[in-house]
Amino acid sequence: MKNIVIFSGAGISAESGIKTFRDSGGLWEEYCIEDVATPGAWHRNAALVLDFYNQRRAQVLSAQPNSAHSAIADLEKYFNVQVITQNIDDLHERAGSSNVLHLHGEIRKSRSTLDEHLIYTIEGSELKIGDVCPLGAQLRPHIVWFGEAVPAMEEAISITSMADIFMVIGTSLEVYPAAGLLEYAPDASLKILVDPHAKIPAHLKEFSIVRKSAGVGVPEVLQKIIENNV
Ligand code: APR
Repeated sequence: MKNIVIFSGAGISAESGIKTFRDSGGLWEEYCIEDVATPGAWHRNAALVLDFYNQRRAQVLSAQPNSAHSAIADLEKYFNVQVITQNIDDLHERAGSSNVLHLHGEIRKSRSTLDEHLIYTIEGSELKIGDVCPLGAQLRPHIVWFGEAVPAMEEAISITSMADIFMVIGTSLEVYPAAGLLEYAPDASLKILVDPHAKIPAHLKEFSIVRKSAGVGVPEVLQKIIENNV
């Protein structure tokens, strides 16, 4: 079976009702990154950071996967499918995808501020000041903040370099190192980007661009891939 690698961003979850970051009306218009999504923010005002992510978690819990997430999950009948997502929601998993690598963390998990390997599922939607790990240290959202390393990047590069088909969905490609993943897709792979406002850097011009929303464009493109490649 061929390897399909899906690289998704906030745009794939937009039609599930989860706000993107940089579109008009996006989250980074409403909030200042330095106030809610950096290690400095956590040190200055952990309660504010927790509140921001509690809101994100509540939104994710009330959202459902859309036709793009489902079409990707269905692909597993025909291909080895690996999803690499910048998203912190679990909509790929809930749609049925088996292999999902989260580059920027997972909103439904917390981790110890003393030992980053102590990771827990959050029951319900709230993480509060005073919620501690078994070592007694405050729990923080299991999120990669701006200014922090992206530990899953190495695995993402290795997966991408094995792709026969590499499909990018709904990302502004403004955040590194994640956006740099596109450069690791093999020369011989089929490369596609689905985004209604796609901007692809000039040195990556071998990407075919589908300027449609994920909910419409992804099932269409994947149907064609199944017909031509299975
Ligand atoms: N279908 C597909 N794409 C869409 C849709 C849709 N319905 N609606 C919007 N988009 C596209 C936009 O055109 C834009 O290119 O989704 C992209 C969203 O870009 P961003 O908001 O920048 O999201 P993303 O690229 O995932 O952000 C990267 O930034 O703040 C951080 O950690 C956060 O993982 C996130 C990272």
